[in-house]
Amino acid sequence: MSIRLPFTKKKRKESEPLTNTENIPNHVAIIMDGNGRWAKKRSLPRIAGHKEGVDSVVRTVRAAHKCNVNIVTLYAFSTENWKRPQKEIDFLMKLPKEFLHIHLPELMERNVRIQTIGEFDALPAHTKEAVQYAIDKTRNNDGLLLNFALNYGSRYEIVQATKQVMADIQNSKLSMDALDEEIFAKYLYTKELSDPDLLIRTSGEQRLSNFLLWQLAYTEFWFTDVYWPDFDEAVFKQAIEEYQQRQRRYGGI
Ligand code: IPE
Ligand code: IPE
Ligand code: MG
Repeated sequence: MSIRLPFTKKKRKESEPLTNTENIPNHVAIIMDGNGRWAKKRSLPRIAGHKEGVDSVVRTVRAAHKCNVNIVTLYAFSTENWKRPQKEIDFLMKLPKEFLHIHLPELMERNVRIQTIGEFDALPAHTKEAVQYAIDKTRNNDGLLLNFALNYGSRYEIVQATKQVMADIQNSKLSMDALDEEIFAKYLYTKELSDPDLLIRTSGEQRLSNFLLWQLAYTEFWFTDVYWPDFDEAVFKQAIEEYQQRQRRYGGI
């Protein structure tokens, strides 16, 4: 499905580099929200917002690269998003291919590695194929890790992890006494990732919507009213600069 947007695209200025390069978050997680409301405001169908939101992903990669952020995790589709109308779901499931078709060369140039978290197998075949191609193609890149949460639900993740832990205890691969937080975390999709340092949610909503409940235990939260399709380097930079002022105490003093 291709849609034409009845307006000229806003020219966006690339942001200046950060003046302070200390205390950069290693891992930034983003709940990309507000595509539907962005479209509604313009009397466009919701899918126009999703389409426009693809460009925000690329701007985010550029901004993260510039700020020396190592990992960006983007919440692209939740396990609850299957409740949406089938047409909208179908459109969303075609977006990874569209995104990669246009932007994979730039991602390669920027040395970006692509990964996913979530129930990958339950995605439509054409979505899996496009994403798997990008994962394979970028496998040896060692720059920014761009991690898409696709068909991701945190409670499901935790329940699956618990089942696997119990199976391993039953098979004597793991002892009950040895089980601790660090070992439990190895059963999550995020086993190879450090916890996010900064969580951004766009569109004014201030909730987690089943995103990384375990991993966000000590993450700094930053909310903006900006709808995802309007997200740009300047907004990303603003979030980083505010993060740089935060004091993380992890329960200490
Ligand atoms: C975020 O935008 C994209 C996805 C959840 C897939 P929404 O589609 O949730 O937009 P709003 O929240 O309805 O404005
Ligand atoms: C969260 O946004 C999921 C993604 C951004 C993929 P939703 O728009 O689905 O969240 P709720 O329903 O407003 O909590
Ligand atoms: Mg939403």
